[in-house]
Parts: sequence; structure tokens; C-alpha cells
Amino acid sequence: MPAIAPLIPKDRFIGLESVAHLAVGGEAPMLKSHRDAVARFFADKGQGEPARELEFQRMNRVRARCGELLSVPARDITFLSSASAGINTVAYGLDWRDGDNVVVADVEFPSGVYPWTTLAPRGVETRIVRNRNWRIALEDIADRIDARTRLVVISHVSMFTGQRIDLPALSQLVRDAGALLLLDATHAAGVVPVDASLADFVVSSCYKWLLGVHGTAIFYWNRERVPDFRAPFLGWNSSARSGGWKNPVEFELHESADRFLPGNPSYISLYILDNALDTLLPLGIDNIERHALALSGEIRAAVSDKGWELMTPEADPERAGNVCFLVPDVEAFRKTLEEQGVLVWGAYASFGRVRISTHVYNDSADVARCISALASV
Ligand SMILES: Cc1ncc(COP(=O)(O)O)c(C=O)c1O
Repeated sequence: MPAIAPLIPKDRFIGLESVAHLAVGGEAPMLKSHRDAVARFFADKGQGEPARELEFQRMNRVRARCGELLSVPARDITFLSSASAGINTVAYGLDWRDGDNVVVADVEFPSGVYPWTTLAPRGVETRIVRNRNWRIALEDIADRIDARTRLVVISHVSMFTGQRIDLPALSQLVRDAGALLLLDATHAAGVVPVDASLADFVVSSCYKWLLGVHGTAIFYWNRERVPDFRAPFLGWNSSARSGGWKNPVEFELHESADRFLPGNPSYISLYILDNALDTLLPLGIDNIERHALALSGEIRAAVSDKGWELMTPEADPERAGNVCFLVPDVEAFRKTLEEQGVLVWGAYASFGRVRISTHVYNDSADVARCISALASV
């Protein structure tokens, strides 16, 4: 196979000179130009009242580009503090009825599971779809859905197994059942195409594949499909017009998804995300996908040769940038690789899982280094 060059040169990132950074599924390395983005924020923030207008403008710029990224209208996107906050917004905003259920996979990220358990006192059941050899099958999701299923919650790409679900097929299944779909696109947005309009709600962290930092996460509300979804948490920023001191309880919610954002967002992380999108989007998500799949495919094949149990499916449409597999001692494994300058992610070590992730700054040399480190384990 011809050598694959990085889509973004490594010297545009901080600290990538001497390592093979294959841990973006946990934390992205930082673009050097993020320092300028932070400087832009600091300069804007010091300008007194005009600062707020500049901050809003920056947020709107990011919103427009997130709309492009997710193929949905920008006004239906807002920025909450984390993907977990977005999931909880859905949990607290839907009008649950006694006997409703939520369907979620056993390999889902904890934030996609725990919020539904708080609804148990209101008679809402959390139903678990079991994986088969680490794969979540659409048939098994369909089996758990019934007439009382209100919501199906799933990651577009699994943080735990690396599986990418067939979003159009799942969307059809959920819609045919009269239920809603909450999609966690944290391991998909920025590396594979995401059509958010196929879901009813989408959340995504921005500090991994989108190359941003913590404090800002995307929250998308499919207004066409769930126009009556209630904003559960309100504050000054949720309203477009307020009655002021004369009528303090009179206000009108924003038309846009900003109704779900009670206060200021994290502007500093929006300035950084703006810079990250300036860098990522011109590359084309299709190109990024091809790049990540080619590199992670080589790593997957090497893991398979070593005989470790693979969790990530082989076919390109069923995976993205993550390769996940099981080893007897995750911490020792991760450290052995780290000593050779190969950074991988070992969180959830107690489950025996390792995750190796490939993104825009990786190249064939990183993969070769990783494969030789794997051989030494
Ligand atoms: C699928 C998924 N969703 C969300 C998150 C992080 O969420 P938050 O933005 O709430 O920290 C992670 C982090 O690992 C994740 O893997």
C-alpha cells in the first residue's frame, strides 16, 4: 500500500514531533493556531459591552459551520457545556408518561444510560439491548422496541467497540416504530459524515475528533420532528424577549435552539472550535473518513494478526477511526506502547479494552510505529 501522508502536518500541532498520537478518541492534541484563537477571545473580551456582540458573532459563525458539518439548519443547533448535559436536556425535556421505555445498548457510554434511570420513579423503563460479539444488531434493537418506546439512544460510532451503526436504517426503524432517536455523534462528527436530520436529537463533544476543547458540546434539536419539545432549563439566554421588571414572568423563548441554553456558553472554547472547524472542514469530511479508515484498517489487521479479541467490525461502513480490542492487562499494555512513543487510550481498563484511534495528523509512519510496538507486547 502506498504511504499515507497526514492531512494536516504534525508540526501544526503541539507536542506531536516525537510521538505517534493514536488517542484522539480520548483527547485530541491541540493545534498551535488555537493559541491565536485564545488570543482573539482575550482581545474581544476586554472590549466592554461590544465584547458580547463579538462573542455572539463568533458563536453564530461556529453554529453555521456545525450546521454544515451535520447537514441541518444552523438555528436548530446550540452549544451546551457537554454532551452529557445535552443528553440530560432530552431526559428532562420530554413529556414522559408512566409505562414509557427508553432503549439503549449495553456498550453505550454511561452518559447515554444513567439519565434514564432517574425517570424510573415516573414509570419509565430503561431497556438494554445486548451486544453479540460486541456488535449491536439492528434486529436486536428492533426486538427491544415496542409500542411504548419513546426514545432510542445510541452512539453513531461506539466509544467502547468502535462499531459505526447504519444510521439511515436505524432512523427508519425508530420512525416506523413511532419513537424518537437521540444520537451521540461524539466519535463520528469530524471523522465520518453525520446526517443529523436522521435523528431527533444529536449531541457531540468537541474535544476529540473535532479538535476542540472541553466546555462546548453540540446540541441539535430536530424542530420539524419534535416541535413541542420543551426546554427544561431556563435562564436569561433562553428568551428572545422579556417583560423586564414590570412583568418578570413574561418572556418568549428563542425561536432557535438557543432556548435550550440557559446562560452564556463557554465562549473561549467556541473560539477554539471555530479555529478547529476552519482547519478541518476545508479538508472535506469524506477525505478525512477515507484517511482514518485506511490507517485504522491497517491497525485493525495487525491486532487481528496478534490474536487479541477485536471488538471493532472489519467492514468500512461499520467502523470509523477507532479500533477497539481486548488485552489481559490494559494498563501494562498502554504503558508499554507509551514507552515506545505510541499513545493509545486505555480508559475502562477494568473491562480489558484498548482503543487506538487514527485522525487527520496521523500517517503511515505512525501506523508502522504502532504495529512494531504491538509486536513487542
Ligand atoms: C460517546 C461519548 N459521548 C460523550 C462523551 C463525553 O461527553 P462529555 O462531553 O459529556 O464529557 C464521551 C467521552 O468519552 C463519549 O465517548
